Amino acid sequence: MIILSVETSCDETSVAVTKDGKEVLSNAVYSQIDIHKKYGGVVPEIASRAHIQSMLYMFEEAIHNANIKVSDIDLVAVTQGPGLIGSLLVGINAATTFAYANNLPLMGVNHLTGHIYAAQIEGDIKYPALALLVSGGHTELLYLKDNMNIEILGTTLDDAVGEAYDKVARILGLSYPGGPVVDKLAHQGKPIYQLPIPLLKNDPYNFSFSGLKSAVLNLVHNMRQRNESFNVEDVCASFQEVVTEVLVQKTKNAIETLGVKQLIVAGGVAANKGLREKMYEKIKDIEILIPHIRYCTDQAAMIGIAAYYQNLVKPATKDYYIVGKSSLDFDHFKR
Ligand code: KG4
Ligand code: ZN
Repeated sequence: MIILSVETSCDETSVAVTKDGKEVLSNAVYSQIDIHKKYGGVVPEIASRAHIQSMLYMFEEAIHNANIKVSDIDLVAVTQGPGLIGSLLVGINAATTFAYANNLPLMGVNHLTGHIYAAQIEGDIKYPALALLVSGGHTELLYLKDNMNIEILGTTLDDAVGEAYDKVARILGLSYPGGPVVDKLAHQGKPIYQLPIPLLKNDPYNFSFSGLKSAVLNLVHNMRQRNESFNVEDVCASFQEVVTEVLVQKTKNAIETLGVKQLIVAGGVAANKGLREKMYEKIKDIEILIPHIRYCTDQAAMIGIAAYYQNLVKPATKDYYIVGKSSLDFDHFKR
């Protein structure tokens, strides 16, 4: 089954062609990072307009690179939410128009489901599995009972991990998005600063990162006030050490409690080198699936892969009215 998929939930305009929920035939991505960089974060209005400008080029590139004809496509999938509403609407309208014009079934896919199923590109997901989803907007521990049957075990009580990375980068005067820069510098420094480790001992599945972010802010502020010189690399290493420790410890505990067969780590922060290394180093008893770095951050291939598995439990229809449905109405996500 050949699926054309579209992702525009934030600041990447992406169209992909995937085959049978496993193979990525093409994955065209236009990143708007350079446009938003000077504002220190994504500006929603600018993001929506940039999606409009690049959308058709991404369709052309994806179909051309996949070396297929439009008549080979069996299904159209699009990110339905969560995300920036203006950005989502551009992708949803483009996908709906394309599906309608070519008389193809259309399917809305949850962005988070997409991140998780990106793991399927690396190997088959084996249920029950545990997923740690870490991105700019989400930090969740999820219990995957079966295909598209996902239970949310815990989430962040305040900042998402990616958000904490971006804010720490801003405190240190580094560029946006902060995650990749802090990750790189962390590898050049030493974790010499003592920062609080937010483990929330009586709350095994939830996370909290805003206290850690404030601790970095205070540390840097106090050193600047005292005119003390410090290495940005050491601050990054200290912050990354704590973040990865929390994520790995909570994940390891959940695996032991739940007795799952596999661990999936997904989302933009799963591109973090320190996190990937520590997961493999500390979790030896079960198989770990972490998507290739290019499939961790936002792109449409993950939406096409997820759509294939969603189609097995809830086949797509030619009902082109997915825009009006709430992005929270996903029957495979349970709290
Ligand atoms: O999944 P994603 O592309 O978009 C959302 O759905 O949010 O994740 C983006 C987030 C940003 O906060 C970015 O700083 C973070 O992922 N990120 C990283 C790394 N690469 C991207 N965080 C830590 N280390 C990285 N290497
Ligand atoms: Zn994402």
